Amino acid sequence: MSERILIIDFGSQVTQLIARRVRESSVYSEIHPFNAVTTETVRAFDPKGVILSGGPASIIGIDTPRTPDGLFDMGIPILGICYGQMAMAEALGGRIISSDRREFGRAFVDVTGDCKLFHGVWEVGSKEQVWMSHGDRIDKPPPGFRTVASSESAPFATIADDERRFYGLMYHPEVVHTPHGAMLLQNFTHQVCGCVGDWTMAGFREQQIDKIRAQVGNGKVICGLSGGVDSSVVAVMLHEAIGDQLQCVFVDTGFMRKGEAEEVVSMFKNNYRIPLIHRNASEIFINKLEGVSDPETKRKLIGATFIDVFEEEAKNIGGADFLAQGTLYPDVIESISFTGGPSVTIKSHHNVGGLPERMNMNLIEPLRELFKDEVRKLGRELGLPDNFVGRHPFPGPGLAIRLPGGITRKKLDILRNADAVYLDEIRNAGLYDSIWQAFCVLLPVQSVGVMGDARTYDYVCALRAVTSTDGMTADFYHFDMELLAQISNRIVNEVKGINRVTYDITSKPPGTIEWE
Ligand code: XMP
Repeated sequence: MSERILIIDFGSQVTQLIARRVRESSVYSEIHPFNAVTTETVRAFDPKGVILSGGPASIIGIDTPRTPDGLFDMGIPILGICYGQMAMAEALGGRIISSDRREFGRAFVDVTGDCKLFHGVWEVGSKEQVWMSHGDRIDKPPPGFRTVASSESAPFATIADDERRFYGLMYHPEVVHTPHGAMLLQNFTHQVCGCVGDWTMAGFREQQIDKIRAQVGNGKVICGLSGGVDSSVVAVMLHEAIGDQLQCVFVDTGFMRKGEAEEVVSMFKNNYRIPLIHRNASEIFINKLEGVSDPETKRKLIGATFIDVFEEEAKNIGGADFLAQGTLYPDVIESISFTGGPSVTIKSHHNVGGLPERMNMNLIEPLRELFKDEVRKLGRELGLPDNFVGRHPFPGPGLAIRLPGGITRKKLDILRNADAVYLDEIRNAGLYDSIWQAFCVLLPVQSVGVMGDARTYDYVCALRAVTSTDGMTADFYHFDMELLAQISNRIVNEVKGINRVTYDITSKPPGTIEWE
């Protein structure tokens, strides 16, 4: 088993980033909610170290989260971050006060003492940039700790007990605004916990293939292919593990991009020789969706129709014992978090969630421990071509949620054509890989224009392009104006039905990436 770091989550918005940073230094890490961790679960997990995350609560409150009883007696190195530092200090006999100086955002700390966490990055006497987000602060550190970095409003910005290998940071090393934060975390895992960094995609691939073989035995597995990265990686890995015991089904909803269905089929059937059923169900989907304009109704109708069609195909091949899905780690964390995930449903993204229950099949989810960027790495490890692995994410309901205000066949065609021109320009400019996601939205608005000597009254197309690391937050992409002008020109000239192009400059939040 790989070396492991356990992250105990107190509900910070950025806990996932801790896991990502740790994994980036080739150490496997998992996030567990604080109220699900006991000394027994820690022992069973067998971590080389424990990280206590930040969180929104105040340790001074009575019913606020605490560390599991006995955690500090287990002889395991522990790093407390922000709320985690408070929880550690409180448990070990320190004193916490509610600070009259709340500190949010960029701050500087003075490095006052030598510390293993600073190895190779921070020197005694230097001033270093960090990212703070706290109200409470330590007033008196617990016995055994020394202070190795401080700032005016956080005198105990970094505390260390080298003997017990306990460390506490008032700031967040996991965010990019703490420029050396990733190194501080790596120093914790490598210098303090003694990890060597044995978490690699080659190792993961081997482990998972053995696991899949053991789980499936002689059974039959069915896998829904969408053409996206996640389901493609699942399919290729399963095929490597169990060969023709795998049957893939690709349901073409009619809401795919131009040429996409053909690409998926040729890649899997022709290149990989993976058994694949290609069901063109576009008529069924479009008939169901025609004229529907409410985004959630669209998602639900598409989800339900997908299940019907998929089930039909599964019956045609005589059923299967297992269903393979490309569930990722962020979905897993969300479903086990102590708050039960976000309290408000902004969009019901997981639109085919009802499938396993309806079909009464066991699930195979070989990606459930991975983040998106790790899935891409695994895809490359499995030999999937770069242009497939690097594909922009594409939503399950596809173009249907890029047509606000009601779907018609004609609008779908216009959108598909505009999207193809847009992506062609982005690829030609060499920008495809620098953008997280780029697409067109066909607005339910017509505008007056003039082409040649004639008046036009056609649709407006909005261009969207964002940068992001996980889709949770995003910034609009800052295009060069010349390129935007060229894209606009080509779309208006080449796509019949569009006479005006706009560019969406909304970030997420407050916008979302898709318009619906
Ligand atoms: P939003 O629009 O919520 O999107 O900022 C974040 C990411 O999720 C994708 N997305 C979806 N994916 N089913 C999916 O499988 C959906 O209904 C759905 N809606 C949005 C979106 O494309 C972006 O990558």
